[in-house]
Amino acid sequence: MGVETWLLLATVAVLTWLYSRWRHSYWSSKGVPSPPGLPFIGHFHKSFFINNRLWESFQENYTKFYHSSMYGLYEFFSPVLVIWDADIMRHILVKDSESFIDRRDFNMKTGQERDEIMAEMLTLKTGAEWKGLRAIMTPTFTSGKIKSMFPLVCDKADALVKFAMKEAVENPHVEMKKHFGRFTMDTIASCAFGIECNSMVDNDEFTRKVEAFFTPNILGLIKGLCFGFMPRLFKLLGLSLNPPEVDFFADVVQQAVAARKVGQRRGDFLDLMLEARDSSDDPSSKHVLTDRTLVAQSVLFLAAGYETTASLMAFSSFLLAKNKDQQHRLRDELQQMVAEHGDITYQAIMEAKLLDACLQGDNINSFQIIFKK
Ligand code: HEM
Repeated sequence: MGVETWLLLATVAVLTWLYSRWRHSYWSSKGVPSPPGLPFIGHFHKSFFINNRLWESFQENYTKFYHSSMYGLYEFFSPVLVIWDADIMRHILVKDSESFIDRRDFNMKTGQERDEIMAEMLTLKTGAEWKGLRAIMTPTFTSGKIKSMFPLVCDKADALVKFAMKEAVENPHVEMKKHFGRFTMDTIASCAFGIECNSMVDNDEFTRKVEAFFTPNILGLIKGLCFGFMPRLFKLLGLSLNPPEVDFFADVVQQAVAARKVGQRRGDFLDLMLEARDSSDDPSSKHVLTDRTLVAQSVLFLAAGYETTASLMAFSSFLLAKNKDQQHRLRDELQQMVAEHGDITYQAIMEAKLLDACLQGDNINSFQIIFKK
């Protein structure tokens, strides 16, 4: 290659690097601090994998930027603001929520059925469409409904305790995060869909698919990058952004829907969705719900409650294991609760103040508050 070609390449490289720097100067121009990121990619590589590194990076930045009340990240060139100040949160989530009603636009429309299903999820909907769908799903969480689910949750919790005790006898180390995940999945499947899977006992197909779905892999990252940078090539290759497990979940939901047609209604999440779908044929209905939308919300329901609840349980148990005094305080509260109510009841859980403090809000902070007393 001649000198001119090298010079041209070097100029292009410098210009693209400068462009990236300019796009990554958004937060500094607003006076918001930002941790160092990579050119073009920003901090996306840190947030893609949901693993210990992700939590460590959040913890590290939270400590580093604590006094600024916020910090900025970049997912490629898109600015992302991380906040923890309760007043700012109140503005975003309550007072000025109309201005923040929409989530980020994850363009999942690749033409593949799997991605089309995922694109129908509530979390990807905006404006009036989101409000309509949300109105259908919200009644799943009324206190009456949660109360009626309570015995099902207790059954799964008993199974978890039994299984963990057995594991503790047989193994020096018990992978509790994994078991919490299985407990969560069994509970949601039972409460929302009437599907009974004993994933703690049988390492069945359902469990394996769920675990595979939540384990990000390098192929997923490459596909995400390809979709972000070369969407045409992505479509040409017929690739999908979502793993094949989505097809499995869609099948499971479709089977559960078919079973409801012939079986009894339970007044659960699936029934609420089916009623909304059936009434959406009525011209006076405000909501239009297709089969695809129904499957999408069901997959979302399984996914949304799984990792979140399992992480909360894992973090809380870890901190309780490290802080024996607080563990004893909590144990006392729960024993007193059983003595008063005769058992662990819904009402008793609602009244358990220390338990609530242990699980409430920012997990680490709520613990710091209790432990400093
Ligand atoms: C400790 C446990 C949980 C935590 C920390 C948690 C956290 C969150 C967060 C932060 C969001 C907002 C996401 C966004 O705006 O993009 C969300 C949404 C959602 N979560 Fe949870 N979640 C938990 C448990 C559950 C459970 C058990 C279910 C259902 C079985 C569930 C169902 C949903 C649904 C359907 C949405 C979407 C709501 C909407 O877009 O309007 N979550 N959750």
